[in-house]
This record gives sequence, structure tokens and C-alpha cells, in this order.
Amino acid sequence: MSLTPEQPEAVASHPYAIADPKRVPAQRYYSADFARLEKEKLWPHVWQVACRLEDIPEVGDYIEYEINDQSILVVRESEPGPGAGPEAASASGIKAYYNACRHRATALGNGSGTFHGRQIVCPYHGWRWDLNGESTYVFASERGFTPACLDKENLRLREVQVGTWGGMVFVNMDPQAPPLEQYLDGIAKVLDPIAFDRMRVRWWRHVILPCNWKMAQEAFLEAYHIMQAHPSLSMGAADDDYNLEATVGSFECFEEGHAHSRPPTSTEAPVKGMSRADYFIQFNNALYFGTDAFTTEREIFVQQGLLERDIPDEEFIPKFFEALYAHAQGAGIPLPPPVTDTQGYGHIFPNLTFLPGYGTNIIYRSRPNGDDPESCVFEVWAVQIPGADAGEPERPELEGPVPVEEWPQIFREDFRNVIGQQKGVRGAGIDDLIMSERYEAMIINNHRTIDRYLGRD
Ligand code: FES
Ligand SMILES: [Fe+2]
Repeated sequence: MSLTPEQPEAVASHPYAIADPKRVPAQRYYSADFARLEKEKLWPHVWQVACRLEDIPEVGDYIEYEINDQSILVVRESEPGPGAGPEAASASGIKAYYNACRHRATALGNGSGTFHGRQIVCPYHGWRWDLNGESTYVFASERGFTPACLDKENLRLREVQVGTWGGMVFVNMDPQAPPLEQYLDGIAKVLDPIAFDRMRVRWWRHVILPCNWKMAQEAFLEAYHIMQAHPSLSMGAADDDYNLEATVGSFECFEEGHAHSRPPTSTEAPVKGMSRADYFIQFNNALYFGTDAFTTEREIFVQQGLLERDIPDEEFIPKFFEALYAHAQGAGIPLPPPVTDTQGYGHIFPNLTFLPGYGTNIIYRSRPNGDDPESCVFEVWAVQIPGADAGEPERPELEGPVPVEEWPQIFREDFRNVIGQQKGVRGAGIDDLIMSERYEAMIINNHRTIDRYLGRD
């Protein structure tokens, strides 16, 4: 079921709940009480991306996912299908466990690595489990422990629900939560044509931002800021010379909190006085130099080839896609068919945002940094559908934390704004943040869904 941004929610009763969707209480971004509520009522009950399938390509590989004070190990428990890439493994080949030994709770893994010999071994006293979480060895068990302490079921590693979609592994700490397929149903149908599942990581970086996790991601949930914040994308056009209606389409907001933007109906270039072809070319260039992710060398190569030819303006964009598909076919790149409905950006509740390009995607994950409401871990994955000869890519390495000043320009511009916003939001005269239902519908939908979680008993 989908909602329109205008539909009111029942008024929630917790502190700093949203009464009017056009006004977001400022304390939601810095109050320790509000962060505590999220820690208690949101994060332990919601599906969230723990890692990419590529992070655990071989049986025994694990990666740690941390949220608030919880540490979860995602483990490749069984073989992927014969000759298949990481996507071929079903969710049943992957397990997630609380990262704690059943003896005296020592963490069993740190960061990422491999449990060699398909055994998880506690570094403290050597208790062991197989990858399925079953206890296989307790040192000096008979002399040291009563039979009740050695109950096999009780010694199992404590599990967390797992699901996979789009090349990503999701976890949910709530054993009662409905399955991932049900949770993602509406948004997955919309996004599947983009072929997330065939994309592989080109780079993966993170930054620690001194702002609330919601604030960081909200810079990527609307395009209203482009005119002022990103001169390379607005191409110097200011105010009414920047035609926002040619940039912002409509939004589809789902009850589960997910949302995506649809392409604008206006066929004008967003910059007045500029042809659509010129805008398209400069936009690609700006995103190539400014993100190194949405547009990549591949598209710039195709575009440059066309620029060497004398192509009339009105034919340039269709010719670009024709040439891109021809290039992809030649290079064995299985690009999905051109999609019309899902171009634009999207959001999977509560904290995953993405900006699809041409068989590429920028994926953002924002989460609290421990329990501090004014610090977040913000990650970016640049992903792309690889060519046929690329082979299986290396296990991705997380870079960083990369200081704000070392990110490509467009990220820098966004990061600086949210840092400034966090500074401002504590101002004694600031009670609330004003939202546009037209342009900031995805932000409103996210807050509204958070309130639904926080309002539960
Ligand atoms: S704490 Fe793990 S074996 Fe003792
Ligand atoms: Fe931005």
C-alpha cells in the first residue's frame, strides 16, 4: 500500500512526535531521550542493511555490523551455487549472530575476516561453534560445568533474522518481524528493473559526520537543495533561472517508510536558456568529477565519442543511450533495459538511500555512531554492473573514515551543509524545521514511519 505525503498519521504520544508533517521538532536531531527511544523501539525491530553479499564471498567469511551498542556477525554458512557469483546464494546460506560468546560473552569476530576450518573459535577460552551456530566444543567441559550449563540448545549462538535483496544482506533483531520480502514488497517491485543485484562495488568509503543520522541522510532525500548547494549541477542558474519542476518529479511513498522519486513531467532543461542536450552533457560531467560514482568513465567515454560527431541537439540524448547500449553489448555488460518509472532517487526505510545512474548506483547508509545523537557513521558504496571479462571482483575494502575535505566535490558540499545544519538545529530559538510537502515528501515519510515504530507498546 502506498501513501501520499498529505495523508495524516494518527498523532503519536512519545516525546517530540510529529503533529504536523510540515514541521519536524528540532529535538529529534539532538535529544538523548529521542535517540534512546530510537534505540529501544526502532533499531531492534526494523530490517536494515548489514553488508553486501560481496563482503562474504566464501564459506566461513564474516563481517561485523554495528548498530548502537549491538554487534552482529553476518556469516557465509554454506556454499554459493556451482559457478555462481555471490548473488546466487540464498538467504539460507547466510546466518547472522549476536557477536558474543555463550561462555562469558567475548566478541567472536572483529571487523571482517574468515572463520577458518568452518569453526568459530572464541579467543578467550576456546569454546567453538560450527558456522550453523551449533556448539561443537567446550574446553574441559565435564570437570568444569554442570550438565545444565552444557545444554546444547542453550549453547547455540544467538541468531538474528537475515534476508537478502539487491546484492545486500539485511538483518532484523526482532524474531517476530515479518520477513524481508514482505517488508520490501512495494519498493522492490519498483526497483528490481534497475538490477541492483547485478551491481558490484567499485569503491566503499565512510565518514564520521558530526550530525544526527537522519540529518545526514536527508541531504540525499531531496533535490530542492541543488540550486544553492551544488553550483556544478545547477550550472550557475539561480532562483527562477533554475527550473525546479524540471528536476523534481512526483514521489511514491510506501507505508513501510520506503519511497522513490519519479522523473519530472517537464521536458524543459532545468536551467533556463540551456538545451536539454547541453544540460545532460554538463550534468554527466559534473557528476563524474563530483562523485566518481553516478556517472563513471564508461559513460563519459561514450559521451565523448558522440561529442566528436556533429549531432543535432534534439538527437543527442537518444543517441547517447543508443551508443551506451551498443557499447555495453560489445563489452558484455548486461545493462538492464532503460527504465522510465524509477529514474531518480530512492529510499529504503530507515537508513538506506540510493541514486541510480546508468547501470550504476550510489548507495548511502547512515546510522548512529554508538549512542551519540549528534554523530553518525555515513557510508557510500559506488556500485556498477561489471563487464563480462571483469571476473568476480575482490572482496570490497571499507576506506576511511575519509575526512570531509578529501571527498569528491558534490559529497563535500552535502556534508558541509549537514554539519552546519546540526550546529543550527540546537539554536534556542529553533523549535522546528519547516518541510515542503511538494519537495521534501520523502523526508516527511521517513519521520512519519519512525513515529509509527516509536509509538508502539
Ligand atoms: S568467553 Fe568465550 S570461551 Fe570463555
Ligand atoms: Fe546534494
